[in-house]
Amino acid sequence: MVEHMIDLRSDTCSQPTEAMREAMARAPVGDDVYGDDPTVKELEAEVAALLGTEDAVYVPTGTMSNQIAVRAHTEPGDAVLLDQGAHIYMNEAGAMAALAGVLPRLLPGLRGVFSADDVRAALGVPSRFSVSTISTPVKLLCLENTHNGGGGKIWALDQIKAVTGAARERGVPSHLDGARLWNASVATGIPEKTYAESFDSISVCFSKGLGAPVGSALCGRRDFVKRARRFKQQFGGGFRQAGIIAAGALYALLHNRARLAEDHAHAKMLAEGIHDCPGIVLGVAAIETNIVRFKITSLAAGEFAERLYAKGLRVLPAGADGIRAIPYLNITCAQIREAIEIIRTVTASV
Ligand SMILES: Cc1ncc(COP(=O)(O)O)c(C=O)c1O
Repeated sequence: MVEHMIDLRSDTCSQPTEAMREAMARAPVGDDVYGDDPTVKELEAEVAALLGTEDAVYVPTGTMSNQIAVRAHTEPGDAVLLDQGAHIYMNEAGAMAALAGVLPRLLPGLRGVFSADDVRAALGVPSRFSVSTISTPVKLLCLENTHNGGGGKIWALDQIKAVTGAARERGVPSHLDGARLWNASVATGIPEKTYAESFDSISVCFSKGLGAPVGSALCGRRDFVKRARRFKQQFGGGFRQAGIIAAGALYALLHNRARLAEDHAHAKMLAEGIHDCPGIVLGVAAIETNIVRFKITSLAAGEFAERLYAKGLRVLPAGADGIRAIPYLNITCAQIREAIEIIRTVTASV
């Protein structure tokens, strides 16, 4: 193995900085299950204020946060409307079926973005001749912003309002998988709070671009978060002196949001540096935030990833011909230049 690997598999591969480690070492802690960890409470208050929600609950992962939301909005046998490439559906180990017992109703999103008409079509038109006991009731709509599978695609605010409005007209609440909501806000200048207004619950992650080692928060109205706390415990998320890790999340929230612009610039730089390589299919204009997704046509994605790895670059193969690369806070401009060189060398040699 090459000694200095450049790891662009995911922004979750980030390492805590020295200042973050110091904040964690000093954090006052208590038993979070008894509700008396001061650092967890401070983090929850801070993130709720930032998103403009009444309350928030700190949980171990984005997966748990999303799945608690799905469980808290539904009952077993209900259906959830979401994009065909949604992380909640595709990449959370089947949890919506296993833990909440709900059915996915998939929407035909383009890079994760669907329309209000898609939502209306899925909800159908009620009539007095419908037999209400036959159909599977849709109890939740989920959106993902930015969209991971869609290559960091940002939802337009108008479109968010249109789709969540179409659901609300029919009494269906909306949940936002905002694992990378910070990236959408930094890229557009639209505050997180403004995005959050359209939703009944919002999940955000501290462990991705913000660089904290652990944790996510589920935000919403006080009664919703109270119900969510019950499922946090039921899913095994009662983590006692969690203030140690919450301190890293709090540090990340307060210090690392604005710098995401640097990751966006690095993603663009990477895309511009490789889009004309033989066998690579990549639209530079599609790079809106920190995720670079492209197709490789000259060899299988897994084999391409192996060859890059042999030269010191890690990327994530996705399917037969997809590759994902994500810069983050420990990745320097020089490393992006090196990554471009490695990709150019490998593609030229196929
Ligand atoms: C859009 C999205 N939602 C949720 C998650 C889940 O987060 P975690 O890995 O903390 O469970 C991820 C993880 O990459 C993600 O990309």
